[in-house]
Amino acid sequence: MEKKIFSGVQPTGNLHLGNYLGAIKNFVKLNNENQNECIFCVVDLHAITVAQDPKKLKDNIYETIATFIASGIDPEKSIIFSQSRVSAHSETAWILSCVARMGWLNRMTQFKDKAGKDKEKASIGLYSYPVLMAADILLYDTTHVPVGDDQKQHLELCRDIAQKFNNDFNVNGFFKIPEPLIQKNFSRIMSLRDGTKKMSKSELSDLSRINLTDDKDQIINKIKKSKTDTLLLPSSNTDLEKRPEAKNLISIYSNLMDVNLDDTINKFSGKNFSEFKEILSQVLVDKIIPISSEIKKLLKDKNYLDQILDKGQERSNKIASKKLKKIQEILGF
Ligand code: AMP
Ligand code: TRP
Repeated sequence: MEKKIFSGVQPTGNLHLGNYLGAIKNFVKLNNENQNECIFCVVDLHAITVAQDPKKLKDNIYETIATFIASGIDPEKSIIFSQSRVSAHSETAWILSCVARMGWLNRMTQFKDKAGKDKEKASIGLYSYPVLMAADILLYDTTHVPVGDDQKQHLELCRDIAQKFNNDFNVNGFFKIPEPLIQKNFSRIMSLRDGTKKMSKSELSDLSRINLTDDKDQIINKIKKSKTDTLLLPSSNTDLEKRPEAKNLISIYSNLMDVNLDDTINKFSGKNFSEFKEILSQVLVDKIIPISSEIKKLLKDKNYLDQILDKGQERSNKIASKKLKKIQEILGF
């Protein structure tokens, strides 16, 4: 069956190894499977649900586009575009916000986490964020959405919205009900300084993450300084549960090499961390440096990136505006 794939990444800077292994690497794989139609969106409207510096936002949009391409997404084959340039997303989000129920949104754990203690001060956009995400997905008759498991709840909401719209307006099958594509046996990439916290762009210490724009020396240094325990590398998976830092480094190696965790454990069982870290650094340098060099090269060619944005806008707008027109007809507009 032909899959219609849609996913989005926020242009909020510092794209890191977690984003690459958790999302972008999978996008590249999907892009390379012939039967798929893929759309990858830089979700800048989602980014402004929290305060952004306009100049930095603009740079981050370019950087996210450059990262997609440098990682191997082919902009001829897949559609790469920026969300704010296709107005159907905002318009559809409004319409769907009249379909979604307060009770559904009140259950969203990401809002609770992001809004923190002072919910009254959070933007309305942060609250209705998942409705915009539903619009992104539903406008393209998406069948599959590759996301990290933190986004599973938002995807459930998207399915509920689609179903309610189809029922309320008696248009069975109008919105396709999308499936999440969550990588099997994938554990989140954790901070290099604390194996219990996820690797994140917002963590203050740069030593906690490998950025996709790091150079060779930075990568080697960060792995050398990464936190471990004083034991040797474990001999079984059960040992790993109590050793989050060891688990994280072993997972990173397995993911980069596309081998399963048990094979990596067997390979390095009983070795000491300094030896393992050297090998891991080399693997990281081999995989990340070509990407980071390409990102830097692409960022020097804004004309090319503008062309990608223009072309992506044209292609996505064609699909989205057609779907929006049908939505408007259904509503009686
Ligand atoms: P974000 O940085 O939250 O906008 O996330 C962009 C994509 O990267 C989402 O699909 C996330 O699930 C994924 N992602 C972000 N951080 C990590 C991490 N530490 N490990 C794995 N995936 C991640
Ligand atoms: N909310 C997603 C995240 O933070 C990004 C996103 C926006 C998205 N729209 C989407 C992901 C549509 C998949 C499909 O990671």
